[in-house]
Amino acid sequence: MVIVAPSILSADFSKLGEEIKAVERAGAEWIHIDVMDGHFVPNLTMGPHIVSCVRKITNLFLDVHLMVENPERFVGSFSRSGADGITFHIEACNDPLKVIEVIRKSGCKVGISINPPTPVDSIAEFIDKVDLVLIMSVNPGFSGQKFIPDVLKKVKLVREKLNRLPRKVLLQVDGGINGETGKLAREAGADVLVSGSFIFGSEDYGKAIRDLLGR
Ligand code: DX5
Ligand code: ZN
Repeated sequence: MVIVAPSILSADFSKLGEEIKAVERAGAEWIHIDVMDGHFVPNLTMGPHIVSCVRKITNLFLDVHLMVENPERFVGSFSRSGADGITFHIEACNDPLKVIEVIRKSGCKVGISINPPTPVDSIAEFIDKVDLVLIMSVNPGFSGQKFIPDVLKKVKLVREKLNRLPRKVLLQVDGGINGETGKLAREAGADVLVSGSFIFGSEDYGKAIRDLLGR
């Protein structure tokens, strides 16, 4: 069963609580929270305060995607704000094992991510130490970008590697996911589909989520 994680970066922030309740009613199991620092990516978004506000109104899994340099600096504040999972980028840190340890100790699930140009080899030695692998299907920084089909090869490759592990590690795809690209990602082996503009830009969130699930 695939999990849909709406990215609130595309939500209407003037009514964020209603937006979250609406995707919850529409069948979302996770909420994806994109954190950008203006260094690792050329955009600024949200910090721990938003996570604590969202935490008060939902029990859904809060999936924090850190697109920040030196991610270990922020793990404590996001975990205390109520994050359930924290994902960091291999490109943004010097010592991935340390970051994994810091997230693990915070009590959150651990995710590791690679950008479209980054090879799977760069994370191969870490995938048995995390709970989730995120393959970016756009260059991070903005919602509403076009899915890069080439990354499907990496999704398939990671799927094969994860299938050989003794425990469950989730495979997530993020960026440009809609009904069509979501199907490609599912067929390549994705467990979790992140989707921002496709869900929040549609009239009917329930239909958008069913499209992503292939129902
Ligand atoms: C991109 C973010 C994504 C983005 C997804 O940097 O990590 O989560 O918000 O938005 P869409 O689905 O519109 O590409
Ligand atoms: Zn994201």
